[in-house]
Parts: sequence; structure tokens; C-alpha cells
Amino acid sequence: MFGFTYYTPTKVVFGRDAEDQVGALVREYGGTRVLVHFGGASAVKSGLIDRVKASLDAAGLFHVELGGVVPNPHLGKVREGIELAKQNGVDFLLAVGGGSVIDSSKAIAYALADPDRDVWELFKRQRKAVGCFPVAAVLTIAAAGSEMSNSCVITNEQTGEKRSYNDNVARPKFAVMDPALTMTLPDYQTESGCADIMMHTMERYFTQGGNMEITDEIAEGLLRTVMKHAQILHEDPANYDSRAEVMWASSLAHNDLTGCGNDGGDFATHLLEHELGGMFDVTHGAGLAALWPSWARYVYKECMPRFVRYAVKVMGVQDKGQGDEAIALEGIARMEAFYRRIGMPTNMRELGIEPTEEQILAMAASCADAAGGKKGSAKVLYQEDMAAIYRMAR
Ligand code: NZQ
Ligand code: ZN
Repeated sequence: MFGFTYYTPTKVVFGRDAEDQVGALVREYGGTRVLVHFGGASAVKSGLIDRVKASLDAAGLFHVELGGVVPNPHLGKVREGIELAKQNGVDFLLAVGGGSVIDSSKAIAYALADPDRDVWELFKRQRKAVGCFPVAAVLTIAAAGSEMSNSCVITNEQTGEKRSYNDNVARPKFAVMDPALTMTLPDYQTESGCADIMMHTMERYFTQGGNMEITDEIAEGLLRTVMKHAQILHEDPANYDSRAEVMWASSLAHNDLTGCGNDGGDFATHLLEHELGGMFDVTHGAGLAALWPSWARYVYKECMPRFVRYAVKVMGVQDKGQGDEAIALEGIARMEAFYRRIGMPTNMRELGIEPTEEQILAMAASCADAAGGKKGSAKVLYQEDMAAIYRMAR
């Protein structure tokens, strides 16, 4: 195993009507002037924004609001938020939404801590953050895990670049998680979220060593649990207990718990997907599902023990002496079958896009640029490998 630092400073308040505590929580963390940041129509329509504002009012907190964050959140909206926050002396960012809203809030918060520098420089790896204003989340979709993660992913809509910046200073102060808030999600978003949650654990699972038994068992349990409840929610979207299971899994899958002791993880599928998001604006979790089977078939021979263990312990493949290769491939095939059962794509055509050879080469070049030339642990991928996986996933 490798040594690790496990840092999860986010206070989690979980359960029915937890959002009513948000005003008191902001106060507890020293906020006095709050920017309430949200997405399109969903949180307004459900009345959640009004309930959040009422809670802030009850706590005597000044607040301004900014909606309109789109999935694969735009740099332009971040810049709008920075200006509004500066004009109003905002000292606390409250994200009401999913990963896109939380990440937009984190980006605004980075900018407020260093107001004279362009925040996009962080995402271009040109400098590191000097600080971050406090951010907190009222989560409305179980998926990205941004409510406890150190990550922030923003799309520069003018260049089509989707880039991440990771820093512990941006981990949310608190996350309010009421599973009932996710019941209004369309099925496609629920299941894309489940695909993303699983992928955050799988990215940390398919590595070349350092794996601890305790971490593996937590990861496998998380994966089996999410698979079970993703299928229940596909049939019964109003099932509160299943909503709760996947909501808590979303946080545990991406707060580093399932990576303790490993080498930092693989994350090549995420890198490849971010280019799809930047170029074609696809839903993140569905994009991951469309790429993973091709990635897996491209790399499994170099990471055989992990693929065999995954097949047996997560996908329920029985070892009848058929040999490692057959077991590993059966595990990948069962994962694809699971994606199909929950309405997820298993290739880019099913995702609804058909990139040209030119676009594949451009995405592979951009991946290599974003990753500094190479990426991966299960197998280290270079630009030509990335292009090959995109071709396989057509
Ligand atoms: O804008 P509204 O109307 O709210 O609609 C949203 C959006 O269309 C809708 N939605 C959310 N909650 C809802 C709801 N609709 C009905 N009822 C509700 N309760 O769902 C759609 C997707 O929302 P979004 O925030 O984009 O989803 P998600 O949480 O999957 O976030 C995706 C973004 O996070 C990034 C992704 O790349 C993508 O940009 N990621 C962020 C990570 C991080 N910061 O740690 C890690 C991830 O790997 C990921 O890359
Ligand atoms: Zn993800």
C-alpha cells in the first residue's frame, strides 16, 4: 500500500427536510452575505430555492441569487457570478443543485480569494490557487460527488475546453443532502448519476498496486449497492431508501475513501469523457458509460488481477476454471449488460454522437494536452492510445 492523507472537512447533514437547516449552517461557518447559485428550472419549480431563501432569511442573512448554470458549466456564468459577488460583498457561496452548480460556485469562490487574477489560469495549469471563499451545497442530484470533493470542472464555452482543477481549499464546508430532493430527476439523469458514482470508485479500483483489502471491500460493497439501487430506481423512481443509498454513495465514491492506499487512481475514462463533454455537451455519466467498455477492453490485459477480482466480486462471475482472460472479459460484458438495463449507452453511437476521425484526433490531442502527455494507472495511455479508445467506442 501507499501512504495517504485522508481529508474530508465537509460536514454532512443528511435526511428529510435537511435543507431547512441551511441558514443556521451558513451562520455556523461564518457566512454573512450569501450568493445563492443554482441551475435551470428544476430547483425553482420544486420550490426549493424559496425554501432555501426562507431559511437564510430566518437566520438573518443577506443574500443575492444567480441561476442559469448549465450542465458542463460555463466559464461565462462563472465570470457573471464573480462580478455579482464583488458588487454585493459576498462572503459565502451556497450552491443549490448538482455538480455543475457546485463547480461553478467553487470557481467563483477561487476568483473571489484572488480577485485580480483570471480564474481560468487555474484550469490551464498556469498557477495554483492562493485560497478559496467558503462554499457549501444543497445537493439535488446524486452523481458528481462535488459536494465533498476537491475537484472543480469548468467548460470554456468559447474554446470548447473542459478542464478540471483540484485543490483541498475548495472542499465544501457543509453538504445538505435530502434524498427526497432527487425524486424530481428524469430517469436518464438518475442513471447517469449512478454511472458516474460507480466510475469514481472504478477509477480508483483499476490501478497497478497499492490496493488495501479494507479499501477494496469498501469499494466493492459500494459498487454492488449502487448497481442494486440504480436498477430499483429505474423502475421505482420515488423509492426514498434507494434515493438515500445512491446519494450517500455519491459522496463516498468521490471523497477519496475508495482510494485510500492506492497510487492515486487511473482517471483515464474521466479524461476521455471530459473531451466529449467539451465538444458535444453530453451528460457526464452517460459519456463515461459510453467509453468505459472500450477503455476496459483496451487495458485489461495489463491489469488482469484487478479485472478478474472485479468480475468475481462485483459482477458475480463464477470462477469455474475458465481462465483469467475469460473471467475478465465476462466481467466487462456483464457491466455493459448492466448499463443497458438502466438505459445507459455502451458506445458513442448509443450516446447519440458520431465523431469524425478529425474530431477523434482533436479530442485525443486535447486529452494529452490536459494531462501533460499521458494518463492512467491500469495502463498508461498516450495520445495514440486515447485516439484508439475513441475509435473502439464509435
Ligand atoms: O439545471 P437544472 O434545471 O437544475 O437541471 C439539472 C441538469 O439539467 C438536472 N437536475 C439536477 N437536480 C435535479 C434536476 N432535475 C430535476 N430535479 C432535480 N432534483 O440535472 C441535470 C444535470 O445536473 P448537473 O449538475 O450537471 O449534474 P451532475 O451532478 O452530474 O454534474 C455534472 C458536472 O459535474 C462534473 C461533470 O463533468 C459535469 O460538468 N464533475 C464534477 C466533479 C467534481 N467536481 O468533483 C467530478 C465528476 O467526475 C464530474 O466530472
Ligand atoms: Zn465523474
